[in-house]
Amino acid sequence: TRTIDLAVIAGDGIGPEVTAEAVKVLRAALAGEAELVTSNYGFGAAHYLETGRILDDADLASLRGHDAILLGAVGGDPRDPRLAGGIIERGLLLKLRFAFDHYVNLRPTVLHPSVTSPLRDPGEVDFVVVREGTEGPYVGNGGSIRTGTPHEIANEVSVNTAYGIERVVRYAFALAERRRKKLTLVHKTNVLTHAGKLWARLVEAEAANHPDVAWDYLHVDAATIFLVTDPARFDVIVTDNLFGDILTDLAGAISGGIGLAASGNINPDGTFPSMFEPVHGSAPDIAGLQKADPTAAILSTALLLDHLELPDAARRVEAAVAADLAERGSTPRTTAEVGAAIAARLG
Ligand code: NAD
Ligand code: IPM
Ligand code: MN
Repeated sequence: TRTIDLAVIAGDGIGPEVTAEAVKVLRAALAGEAELVTSNYGFGAAHYLETGRILDDADLASLRGHDAILLGAVGGDPRDPRLAGGIIERGLLLKLRFAFDHYVNLRPTVLHPSVTSPLRDPGEVDFVVVREGTEGPYVGNGGSIRTGTPHEIANEVSVNTAYGIERVVRYAFALAERRRKKLTLVHKTNVLTHAGKLWARLVEAEAANHPDVAWDYLHVDAATIFLVTDPARFDVIVTDNLFGDILTDLAGAISGGIGLAASGNINPDGTFPSMFEPVHGSAPDIAGLQKADPTAAILSTALLLDHLELPDAARRVEAAVAADLAERGSTPRTTAEVGAAIAARLG
């Protein structure tokens, strides 16, 4: 039988709690079809505070050897001055996304029939945000001068390459072809005119290869309106790294909460291992209390299974989650209880 060689970075806060359940469910979903071998990597804020190390080239080389990476969440106590400036977020999470060329940050949103949305009449919500993962304002292309003075100037320059946009746009159109054939480019072309023009031009060029995909454009501010007033209008949204970050927390909120929102950081070329993680962070406010919903981490394993071309196992995970969601009552369950219930449905 096939062996899946998985690197697990449980991380900080609720990361280890939700990851334990995701691995449990993944193992159950693969039973009989493939053997799951996991290697745990202790990276994260706690590891950094203990060892002074975040993630070096040797760590990247080890991770590179795995079939895929499952990540919980990283980020420590925001009040700790030793962690200021997103040192773990940049040094670990963004470093992995950039080093492994995760140019597609895939974030599906489905409002399950039995889940209550905070929206009164959401309609059928089923869309995917294809968030660019390696460029934009995330690249760290900036700096500050006269730092700490009243005359400080801080720049954070967004990097947008034709190469980087073209490839993620191509992925988004191919995905729209396999779905309801609707694509929305979200940007801010009325203000960020240089990057916006490039995105619009490359979307238009790729659209010519997909005459059956209907596409439109929304400014990001207007997109937040429609995500609340008419989310059913969306099928595939393709957007910049930062806009995609913001829109996908909103997407989680309208579809049952951030505890259900899954994601994949994908290197479609297969040159590097892809990485799967919930959209949420380390949630220091509920860490260690077994209060976190592991469903987002569990649904991220379905994306992982699809990526590894194990669609039957992916559908089994989704079906087990759907059945669990349908039977969720008002009695709160612990993180481990939710994981065990979903795993039990997989036999
Ligand atoms: P967060 O997503 O950690 O938490 C936001 C809110 O959502 C909190 O009230 C939290 O309790 C709740 N929440 C999150 N996940 C939940 C779950 N599974 N079940 C129930 N409730 C859940 O965002 P934040 O507070 O802005 O960030 C906390 C830390 O996490 C920061 O250090 C941030 O940089 C980091 N972060 C990491 C990742 C990642 O590793 N991928 C993603 C986002 C934020
Ligand atoms: C996410 C997170 C990260 C991001 C942070 C922690 C770097 O918010 O995965 O959505 O902004 O991409
Ligand atoms: Mn985010």
